[in-house]
Amino acid sequence: MRKHIVAGNWKMNNDLAQTQLLITELKRANKTSEAEVMIAPSFTNLWPAFESLRETNIEVIAQNMHFADSGAYTGEVSPGMLKSVGVKTVILGHSERRAYFNETDALLAKKVNAAQQHNMRVIFCVGEALADRKAEQHETVVSNQIKNALFHLSPEDFGQIVLAYEPVWAIGTGETATPEQAQDMHAFIRKTIANRYNQQVANAVSILYGGSVKPTNAKQIFAKPDVDGGLIGGAALDATHFFEIVNAF
Ligand code: G3P
Repeated sequence: MRKHIVAGNWKMNNDLAQTQLLITELKRANKTSEAEVMIAPSFTNLWPAFESLRETNIEVIAQNMHFADSGAYTGEVSPGMLKSVGVKTVILGHSERRAYFNETDALLAKKVNAAQQHNMRVIFCVGEALADRKAEQHETVVSNQIKNALFHLSPEDFGQIVLAYEPVWAIGTGETATPEQAQDMHAFIRKTIANRYNQQVANAVSILYGGSVKPTNAKQIFAKPDVDGGLIGGAALDATHFFEIVNAF
């Protein structure tokens, strides 16, 4: 049975005091749920968040990382640095990193390999732009993102991958994909994985949906057979809203 996961991507929000306040509210709102629960604060808040949440079921994860173990990469953070502050899971390939920081499939493949070498789980983001969807190229775009960055992995290593389908046109826009659109793309992604590996590998991978998930739409989206949870942006910055989504299964 593949895992249900709800991860909050805080993006570049919350200084230390705001992080501590939100974590206090998360602890208060936290109820045992069947889903795995994760939050991704900014780098500067990872350690305080890890310390605060150590005794809870809420995993602290990173929003990004470099592929190198050390070196002349000003401003970057290595896998070992993340592991040293308790982080075992990292988001890679978010559309905002692809767009604003020119992260290519080839670079992301190197980051995926680094995560594998450090025994870290990866939430790998894929998704098409509005122009791709209007041109009916969304399946081509997403399958290429997966193939170019992930399909060099062995079936065993692919077990450390969680996928997040985030249509770029739905991120931060309030323009959520319909549950049917999400299901269609998740089923397509699972079929693409089955064709590369086998049905067992495809059935085991959790595929999350991201893009304007809210308490008002989470239940319908999460009810779809190939949707295994969500990668949440804006709604993750409100503890009550976040747990309404966590408990939407
Ligand atoms: O990584 C999740 C994020 O891209 C979704 O953002 O604000 O549309 O939930 P949002």
